[in-house]
Amino acid sequence: MPALDDPNYLNREQHFADAGVYRISETQALVQTVDFFTPIVDDPYDFGRIAAANALSDVYAMGGKPLTALNIICFPISCLPLEIMEAILRGGYDKIIEAGAVLVGGHSVEDNEPKYGLSITGLVDIDQLVTGGSAKAGDCLVLTKPLGTGIIATAVKGDMISPEEAACVTEGMAALNAAPSEAMVKVGVSACTDITGFSLLGHLYELLLSSQCAAELDYKQIPIYPLVKEMVAMGMIPGGAYRNLEYMRAHISWQGTPEEKEDALITLADPQTSGGLLVALSEEKLEQYLAVLKERGAEGHLIGRIITGSPGQITVV
Ligand code: CO
Ligand code: CO
Repeated sequence: MPALDDPNYLNREQHFADAGVYRISETQALVQTVDFFTPIVDDPYDFGRIAAANALSDVYAMGGKPLTALNIICFPISCLPLEIMEAILRGGYDKIIEAGAVLVGGHSVEDNEPKYGLSITGLVDIDQLVTGGSAKAGDCLVLTKPLGTGIIATAVKGDMISPEEAACVTEGMAALNAAPSEAMVKVGVSACTDITGFSLLGHLYELLLSSQCAAELDYKQIPIYPLVKEMVAMGMIPGGAYRNLEYMRAHISWQGTPEEKEDALITLADPQTSGGLLVALSEEKLEQYLAVLKERGAEGHLIGRIITGSPGQITVV
């Protein structure tokens, strides 16, 4: 790409940014992002909700407030009933409303495989902008949703569990990251990113590289959806988890029991759809942050710490 040198493009040097940040005044900036994908669940309304929550998440990860949304939909209009497209769009719409944003348009394309997502524009006070690049040694790492959405989706596709058994994972993916985001702006944190396709390990690695530090994770403290361990043991593992782990293996040091190692690492490498926020914040702010989350009915789990060390190195104990 040619040099991106517009001084109003505030995070032009940030390689792993969740969204682009563009200054529009002395104090405010736009936070812009786009995300769309193929169905992750069978129910079209749930797919719409999940795709919208996922697209909104990159704005939340940077501490922004979603303002406007544009739909992007690809649909096989000649072989699937229109009601399915309507249900997808209605799911997305309901999430946009819940986020307090406004749907201002969209674009559709005829395609053999359905795809749906949104482009979101948010607003952020520049002094409240959160990036992945300023975590500090000693910071606590908090994760706001359990892991395992890729493994559970694979298990549903493989008929190992029913969509009903996976309902709590569907609701988890459809949940907005609004509360954890507002809480982090209120409390003040060092850094944040959201956990999506590159998994907890991959997105933590990006945050660590950007911040030039290392991390230690406590495996037993990491929240994991019900049935994930059983499904991993049965080999219900998405291809993306293997690719993520292959990419990350050189940067990981496992200090748990050897028997647990491979199942644990593949779970930590599971690609997430609409995963939680991973927040780095100082020890003094931890209690307040968890309290604000609780107040808002959201969850937060202390899963590890930022430490000094070779940038990007992750130790799992
Ligand atoms: Co992101
Ligand atoms: Co994204």
